Amino acid sequence: MSLTNLKPAVTSILNDPSESTASRLTKICEVLKDSVAYYDWVGFYFANHEARTLHLQAFAGETTDHTVIPFGKGICGQVAVSNENFVVPDVKAQDNYIACSISVKAEIVVPLFKDGKNIGQIDIDSSTADPFTKEDEVFLEWVNAEVASIL
Ligand code: SME
Repeated sequence: MSLTNLKPAVTSILNDPSESTASRLTKICEVLKDSVAYYDWVGFYFANHEARTLHLQAFAGETTDHTVIPFGKGICGQVAVSNENFVVPDVKAQDNYIACSISVKAEIVVPLFKDGKNIGQIDIDSSTADPFTKEDEVFLEWVNAEVASIL
């Protein structure tokens, strides 16, 4: 399915007032993972700016030990401080990388901004090598902006 075609599903999940915010975020993770062949793990981390840590709030895919990540550590922790998208075509080429599963070959992390502040991120792992394009970045920026609108 093309990424743009997923937008109505994302919007309808986020605008369902009968579900909690946490449950809506989990459903977003599930619909993205189930609809995009190369999205094998999808999660949202949110920042504690005082402690300088990221906390896993919702995900779809295998459980991970990395539910708390210090700012600066791994791809996620680097995005917490850079405020920029981080596309990793080959995780083996990264020194500052936290492995969640040996099957992961590539990763994309896109920061989530609320009122101009980097408050979290969407993180996607892929078991396909080098699968992410500008289209993924643009789509995930849109997803994060939609999520920010309900926070
Ligand atoms: N690989 C990430 C850690 C989170 S897991 O992908 C779920 C990183 O290097 O920050």
